[in-house]
Amino acid sequence: MTKTKVKRIGILTGGGDCPGLNAVIRGVTKPAQDMGLKVLGILDGFEGLVEGKAHELYNQDVSGILATGGTILGSSNKGDPFHWPEEINGKIKIVDRSKDAMRNYLAWNIDAMIAIGGDGTMHISDKLSKMGMNIIGVPKTIDNDLEATDQTFGHDSAISVVSEALDRLHTTASAHHRVMVIEVMGRYAGWIALNGGLAGGADIILIPELPFDWNVVYDRVLRRNMSGKRFSLVCVAEGAKPKNGTLITKAKDIRRTDPIQLGGIGEYVAKMISDNTGLETRYTVLGHLQRGGSPSPYDRILATKFGTNAIQLAVKKQFGKMVALKGSEIKSVRIADAIARQKLVKPKDQAVLAASAVGVSFGTEKL
Ligand code: F6P
Repeated sequence: MTKTKVKRIGILTGGGDCPGLNAVIRGVTKPAQDMGLKVLGILDGFEGLVEGKAHELYNQDVSGILATGGTILGSSNKGDPFHWPEEINGKIKIVDRSKDAMRNYLAWNIDAMIAIGGDGTMHISDKLSKMGMNIIGVPKTIDNDLEATDQTFGHDSAISVVSEALDRLHTTASAHHRVMVIEVMGRYAGWIALNGGLAGGADIILIPELPFDWNVVYDRVLRRNMSGKRFSLVCVAEGAKPKNGTLITKAKDIRRTDPIQLGGIGEYVAKMISDNTGLETRYTVLGHLQRGGSPSPYDRILATKFGTNAIQLAVKKQFGKMVALKGSEIKSVRIADAIARQKLVKPKDQAVLAASAVGVSFGTEKL
């Protein structure tokens, strides 16, 4: 390791946006400026690194952004330097532009790059780190599916939206004696449905990790009806599927880091319940409402801790590491280890057991 000091920090936000990104940018930039370091904000995630789009960040740029959603730097989930979509003769071809990313990184004289993102961003960061980039990761995603951290920022804000939506649906469900199905995000992990559904009092929670049995779902809503509770709230994760069934997808786009766009299970579940029980059923797709808007206080705090710890790791030249929440402390883990496994809901997770103990069905006979 060289003895030269870290003087210039690069920072980017990759993948889908989520509440708390700006709080991290602020948490990095303010202490960096106080230490006399320069901060270069790279625009639109790795796309800006490949295409050379960046500008300096100063205190005034990050002042007043703690509570704002989105990202002042812009983001993209199509800018993977190793999987770059290029139009050649009217067709989209995937090419490797990692050398362009490295070239800009060197031309900008960046000593340490802070990459804020989810699973996709950490995979790219790991590969760039192996090419010699000094990179530090900060885990974000509303999905909360990164194994190496107890929680990603953004998740708490997303489940607050789910919980509030369920509270609102509850009143109409109860007034009209209906089954209300809500489809929430989370990709291949059920954390948003589980935690949001538990907080919002869902009667049935369907998650990818526990493929459900249609008959158990029908039985639950019918029993509730017969016992006098003439409504049910069903919270279904976009990645949930019935036993022996397949994922329901909306579109495929090879330009994206993950080409599959999930969606449609909420409508399907509502139709199946209506057709097989005769109960009046409606569905709502919560979509990007879960990702937008102001971060919750929890996410503002976690994001600020992540940002301020990331700049410390950069100054100490702890490259190839990602900040992570372990219990109540911020630690660091190797990015390579962080991406080794996706964090999925286990059937014996405490939230699953607690939900089950208060009568929530996961659409299965047994957990
Ligand atoms: O990973 C975050 C997330 O919001 C997922 O929950 C969802 O499946 C996906 O991104 C949606 O991505 P997009 O905004 O690109 O459609």
